[in-house]
Amino acid sequence: MSHPKDFISIADWSTEELTKILELAMSQKRALKSEGKLPASKAGKVLACIFHKPSLRTRVSFEVAIRQLGGSSLYITEREIGLGSREAPQDVARVLERYVHGIMIRTFDHEHVTALGRNATRIPVINGLTDLLHPCQVMADLQTIWEHKGGLEGLKIVYVGDGNNMANSWINAAARFPFTLVVCNPGGFEPDAGVLEGARRINPDLRYANETDPAAAVAGADVIYTDVWASMGQEDDAARRREIFRPYQVNQSLLGKTGKKDTIVMHCLPAHRGDEITDEVIDGPRSVVFDEAENRLHAQRAILSVLM
Ligand code: CP
Ligand code: NVA
Repeated sequence: MSHPKDFISIADWSTEELTKILELAMSQKRALKSEGKLPASKAGKVLACIFHKPSLRTRVSFEVAIRQLGGSSLYITEREIGLGSREAPQDVARVLERYVHGIMIRTFDHEHVTALGRNATRIPVINGLTDLLHPCQVMADLQTIWEHKGGLEGLKIVYVGDGNNMANSWINAAARFPFTLVVCNPGGFEPDAGVLEGARRINPDLRYANETDPAAAVAGADVIYTDVWASMGQEDDAARRREIFRPYQVNQSLLGKTGKKDTIVMHCLPAHRGDEITDEVIDGPRSVVFDEAENRLHAQRAILSVLM
């Protein structure tokens, strides 16, 4: 199939291509569970994993995924590269593509990732989270919803919290898949206006609403999704945000307002238990949070299978 070279934004990929990745993720997951291993389709291939922010899930799941396909990985931190300070992104891209077969990067500035993608013309660049987007997380989330709900069509997905990289990536997904997205945030914490504009350009029928009242937002929700109130890099603002976001906590009372018995609750993790989500909810019967974390491995292995 013909597809973009890089996985930097869900918006760059068509519905058909994204669906194929999700189907591959699910079929590889089944094969791995029944056979105990997968064909070594990426034997000899090396994935450079660049991290300028901390990570548990992204680092471990990408490194395990490439090994499960017979390849290997390199873990590179900001100290080594100094992307944009020690060396320009275009030079880093041109050098790395002489050594490795793919780049996965987690960093602050989204433009650094798009610059790597433009300049590494021979190998794929995968976005492992920027301040703007976290597309691999949403692919794992879509897989998780598909597995629990039997598909995505007609669902109401309600994101409650900060209009951050997760909310932005959900807007891109809503442009590509037939569900309704409601993002519920306090005034002033809306998702990125440019991302929303881009999503509306891709899909003029985008089913999206912004809401400030959590109880109104979650009515009829099939999925409630939340994330931290202060993202990586916003730690200094955490105390102020804790006060502003308090009414947006996903707790048992909010869950009781969906009017549905089968609403599932999701969180990309790491969670700040007692802030954006309570212990009762994250550990409760509606939570699919750890299936979601597992699916990072399966969704990203599918992305590597297609791109590398
Ligand atoms: N959800 C997620 O990306 O987790 P990490 O920050 O631990 O990679
Ligand atoms: N919004 C969070 C997501 C972490 C996976 C952050 O950027 O820190």
